[in-house]
Amino acid sequence: MTADFAALAYLGASILFIMALRGLSSPRMARRGNIYGIAGMAIAVATTLAEPGVLGYDMILVALVAGGGIGTFAARRIQMAAMPQLVAAFHSLVGLAAVLVAIAAFYAPDAYGIGAPGAIKVASRIEMAIGAAIGAITFSGSIVAFAKLQELVTGAPLVFPGQHWLNLLLGLALVALGVDFAATQDTSAYLVMIALAFVLGVLLIVPIGGADMPVVVSMLNSYSGWAAAGIGFTLENTALIVTGALVGSSGAILSYIMCRAMNRSFVSVILGGFGVATATAVKAGERPVKAGSAEDAAFILKAAKTVIIIPGYGMAVAQAQHAVREMAKALAASGARVRYAIHPVAGRMPGHMNVLLAEANVPYEEVAELEDINNDFAQTDVAFVIGANDITNPAAKTDPKSPIYGMPILDVERARTVLFVKRSLAPGYAGIDNDLFYRPNTMMLFGDAKKVVEGILQAL
Ligand code: TAP
Repeated sequence: MTADFAALAYLGASILFIMALRGLSSPRMARRGNIYGIAGMAIAVATTLAEPGVLGYDMILVALVAGGGIGTFAARRIQMAAMPQLVAAFHSLVGLAAVLVAIAAFYAPDAYGIGAPGAIKVASRIEMAIGAAIGAITFSGSIVAFAKLQELVTGAPLVFPGQHWLNLLLGLALVALGVDFAATQDTSAYLVMIALAFVLGVLLIVPIGGADMPVVVSMLNSYSGWAAAGIGFTLENTALIVTGALVGSSGAILSYIMCRAMNRSFVSVILGGFGVATATAVKAGERPVKAGSAEDAAFILKAAKTVIIIPGYGMAVAQAQHAVREMAKALAASGARVRYAIHPVAGRMPGHMNVLLAEANVPYEEVAELEDINNDFAQTDVAFVIGANDITNPAAKTDPKSPIYGMPILDVERARTVLFVKRSLAPGYAGIDNDLFYRPNTMMLFGDAKKVVEGILQAL
């Protein structure tokens, strides 16, 4: 394959990756976006395999079969709620790959066309240092994120005095060693830098609470992209540089969007220490609530002309999406207008609710984003909140001391009747009580989300 043809093929792959990202920005186009991504990756891999630098296919085939097999197995087996840790595990591999390529390039620079042993080009040394350091931080940080999300270790933040100073010191040492390596090509500076980067990766993630982990996973996603881009320079592979930069920037933008939707400052997430329960659970009976049965709910829903369903984390836990869809169909059949309102951080990962509703074949036109539907609650008969809590909590608007103050919320309180499906009065992710439970126009439907909805369906 000529170099020109390879460059053209990589350009085509890069365009497909950009179209994939565009597609993934809306649920309606997400499937097509995925197909663009797969096509781009197939072209990139095929082009790389056809490069004259490839000396044999045996090892590559073994790696492709093993990697592809593990990936397929993991993707088929994984539960939706465990997706963040799967992503964290995959990022750790990207980070490790970056470190291994950088070390290989250091010991065999002639094989990479970046100079001879002991005489590597300065530009390549800089790229190798950056790629290896970011890769090592990504690897160990992602392993800690995985262990926390999988509950192999406690999800609570691990904080100790002087932590930020230690991290700063390590960060400065990394930069100094990287500069030393770029200037002198000193082996020990390079290896110590990589070792310190592994340690820094762990230290950066341990103070972050399980609750902030999704933001961190997205941030590690960004790091893995920059590590890949750095290695792309070493390998002089344009597709890797472009893909790495796309992953790096989109991961950073996603982290920022998530922080904004949760009303958390990006810096405070990165510095950690958040995610400890801020309030104790409210015990049932402390304040009176109106609790109803599935039959009561069915009675109210039957009389409703307009219903908005607000899904949250609890719907995902209970896997209630199919039952909810059946209930919505039954209500629509009796003449009600039923829609779904999606809060940008409902659940525990971006697009969590969209994926669940798509899985239950809910038509896209029935699903609305917060800003498109929020004004409609005032003209809605029933807001049916299922397994959601924080995203409806008016404290976000009224209580400046609340940890969620400033977060945009779905204004369910403005609906004529609010039905809340959850198992108890326990708080959600933010650890705070929700005043809506005690309002006169609220009826609590206590129980597992799926069981309650199935009960309502029967009563309907
Ligand atoms: P939460 O506020 O966490 O509330 C979920 C509620 O579901 C809980 O109060 C729980 O109450 C209930 N629940 C749990 N299992 C249930 C089951 N089997 N059946 C019925 N109910 C069940 O969830 P939300 O309203 O979706 O808000 C999301 C929160 O997560 C926000 O605070 C957001 O900032 C945060 N967060 C989101 C993301 C992303 S990107 N989505 C990332 C990180 C953090 P009971 O225990 O009483 O049942």
